[in-house]
Amino acid sequence: MSTTDQHTQQVPQSPPAWEQADPGAHADDPRALAFAAAYPERPIPAAGPVESGSICISPSTGYEGLWKAIVPETRTRANDLHLPIVAAYASRLCDAYPAADRELVMVSIILHDTGWAHVDESRIISEGFQGDWRKAAIRFEHEAEGCTVARRVLPDLGYDAAFVERVCEIIDGHDTRHVAYSLEDALVRDSDRLWRFDRSGIAMSSSWFGMDPATYVDRLEREIIPELISEAALQMARNDLQRNRSLLRTEVIR
Ligand SMILES: [Fe+2]
Ligand SMILES: [Fe+2]
Repeated sequence: MSTTDQHTQQVPQSPPAWEQADPGAHADDPRALAFAAAYPERPIPAAGPVESGSICISPSTGYEGLWKAIVPETRTRANDLHLPIVAAYASRLCDAYPAADRELVMVSIILHDTGWAHVDESRIISEGFQGDWRKAAIRFEHEAEGCTVARRVLPDLGYDAAFVERVCEIIDGHDTRHVAYSLEDALVRDSDRLWRFDRSGIAMSSSWFGMDPATYVDRLEREIIPELISEAALQMARNDLQRNRSLLRTEVIR
């Protein structure tokens, strides 16, 4: 066997599978049932304007006190890229869904992944991005730790206990729960997924999941687009995908 053959045999022939969300899981929770009854049409049609240009043209604004409070938590797992970009998507989705509580969506999205800074960093990639990652213990741990961060920082910024618990309800399960419990929860989940379609998300996530960019964007289209809950997020994802496929020449470089 030649050296080249030996090398080829060591390279995985297909990337690890992404475990798909199971729409039946948690669907009998009263919150899931109420949300499904309130928004029976899926994806949920937008009631406000939908901006689907590159996310660079509409950064999020405000929440300086909250950002300052979580600077240490932004230094793990590229949160200093992920969190501001998902906040920009969340702000757009709030424009598209004026019925949502914007404060709740924005505070929840800014805090949702801060828990990564308080788990065993060596396990983030080895467990959180391999195989059945949705069920990885480290995923549950980062959600629980994120709630701890929220309970630590929000009271000093003037948020009352009831609001803090609503934030925690969204953070808890944002990756591991299969269905949304409210419009705000849905917009946080969609914003979090939209990051993967931006070129920074493609760069970081494809490397974390061990995929080349062409394989990664194909799988976004096949596996993540069907999980989006809002029509506005769907439009943004499709446009980002088209732009970034073209930018990264993924039809040729594969
Ligand atoms: Fe997360
Ligand atoms: Fe996230």
